[in-house]
Amino acid sequence: RVVVTAGGTQEPIDPVRAVVNRSSGKQGYALAQVALDRGAEVVLISGASNLDVPYGLTLVDVKTAAEMQQAVLAEAGQSDVLLMAAAVADFRPQASSPHKIKRGASGQILQLEPTEDILAQVAERRKQGGRPKVIVGFAAESQDLLDNARGKLERKGLTLIVANDILAADAGFAVDNNRVTLLDAGGGVQSLPLMSKAQVAEHILDRVEALLG
Ligand code: CTP
Repeated sequence: RVVVTAGGTQEPIDPVRAVVNRSSGKQGYALAQVALDRGAEVVLISGASNLDVPYGLTLVDVKTAAEMQQAVLAEAGQSDVLLMAAAVADFRPQASSPHKIKRGASGQILQLEPTEDILAQVAERRKQGGRPKVIVGFAAESQDLLDNARGKLERKGLTLIVANDILAADAGFAVDNNRVTLLDAGGGVQSLPLMSKAQVAEHILDRVEALLG
């Protein structure tokens, strides 16, 4: 049983505006498709995305980081694998206005507060329940790629982290290709060449299958 998160979260400012990010959801949806093709029961927890939902999985639509947190915590403890490809907002507006903010309210300052780190919570719960056996995080970085990714792997208690450089013009955000490096908890580093997100998903699932034994 595999839980995949994908797409970006949206944090409302008022009924028509939100703090968003530019994640397309492509890598997460590709992972869900490959996990399905390999016979897994798949739950896809998806933030904003325009992609077609693969046939045969259970879809959970979410908007905010808090909704994603709730959905992931409900599913992860009953699953073997969590693939956390979603781009979760790190900050949300402290208060969301129930009415559309008018132009006249000039000079407003948006106060932000941090969201919870979902992966860290899942890893903490795994210490008791033992599940999910494999937790895969993603690190989209614009500098010090491998150092930052290794830091996240250790800080969040992950099994594997998929690092990609978001400043590369031909890979990463919103395009069909990706160039990633897989770092594991044992210190292993596997750098993959430029390839489609579907092929990246195959490599990640190969590693996951090996980790599951
Ligand atoms: N993530 C999460 N909960 C959050 C933010 C991120 O579980 N509130 C997950 C992402 O889905 C991803 C991994 O953590 O798999 C790394 O996300 P990233 O935004 O790169 O890491 P942060 O911990 O937010 O660190 P920073 O923004 O400082 O780089």
